[in-house]
Amino acid sequence: MKRDVLSITDLSREEIYELLESAADLKKKRKAGEPTEYLKHKSLGMIFEKSSTRTRVSFEVAMTDFGGHALYLNSRDIQVGRGETIEDTARTLSGYLHGIMARVMSHETVKKLAEYSTIPVINALSDREHPCQILGDFMTIMECKNRFEGLKFAWIGDGNNVCNSALLGSAIMGMECAIACPKGYEPKAEFLEQAKALGGKFTITDDPEAAAKDADVIYTDVWVSMGDEAEQEKRLKDFGSFQVNTELLGVAKPDVIVMHCLPARRGLEITDEVMDGPNSVIFEEAENRLHAQKALILKLMR
Ligand code: CP
Ligand code: NVA
Repeated sequence: MKRDVLSITDLSREEIYELLESAADLKKKRKAGEPTEYLKHKSLGMIFEKSSTRTRVSFEVAMTDFGGHALYLNSRDIQVGRGETIEDTARTLSGYLHGIMARVMSHETVKKLAEYSTIPVINALSDREHPCQILGDFMTIMECKNRFEGLKFAWIGDGNNVCNSALLGSAIMGMECAIACPKGYEPKAEFLEQAKALGGKFTITDDPEAAAKDADVIYTDVWVSMGDEAEQEKRLKDFGSFQVNTELLGVAKPDVIVMHCLPARRGLEITDEVMDGPNSVIFEEAENRLHAQKALILKLMR
């Protein structure tokens, strides 16, 4: 039976721990220059409806490290851009590839891909979630804090796709999640309900200091996500007091780590001082996308 990962909730706590262990091992091997050609002659199709730096490059390099091949499929260049259905695309690609990852506008697209493919499908960011991001983030938290239970994870900013995965992932791993969003930008009720059903301990506030108070992790993301450009002006106003800056760090634990999925808009959601400061693990986090995704594709495609 093929497995798809469309949401972080498609993985159990045990599976996430296993993936993090495997990711750490793959990271060690890569640093030591040990060969890891576990997916020789296997191909991963990478469908992109939106821009990407980290996701595209890390998946492509992952397949190279495994001795396999990755195909970059911009949705404008393949026939879906001219009206071929996702269902037919999924059936066709299943005959060539061993796995698909897709970055899509609408989560429905990645669901359809999964439904009509006979090969594993990975959500590489949709309007609902970004599970690959959260796996890399959790790897980084493990490296820095060596646990999830008892930690306070503070989300500062937009209750968006990455926030949803962070909320659900925290619930799975037993980490307290404190979310601060401007009114009207909170995660949708269905995600809160899902987190509650998973036993998650979380709070929602519109006070960034309350969320950041005694936090072990402070996390932020852009105020204007891909697809939200039409709301740019309003959003920049609404999010004005949600910047991750030195003052906000002052209420967190002294050893708080600062995370950002990137790309960042320096000077908006985060200051240069914090992004380049001693608490920032943002570029380690970006690197860990590679190792965590390698563990994931190995689990699904080997
Ligand atoms: N964080 C992340 O997914 O980055 P990209 O948009 O560059 O892939
Ligand atoms: N929330 C951002 C994440 C980018 C990786 C977006 O959807 O654009």
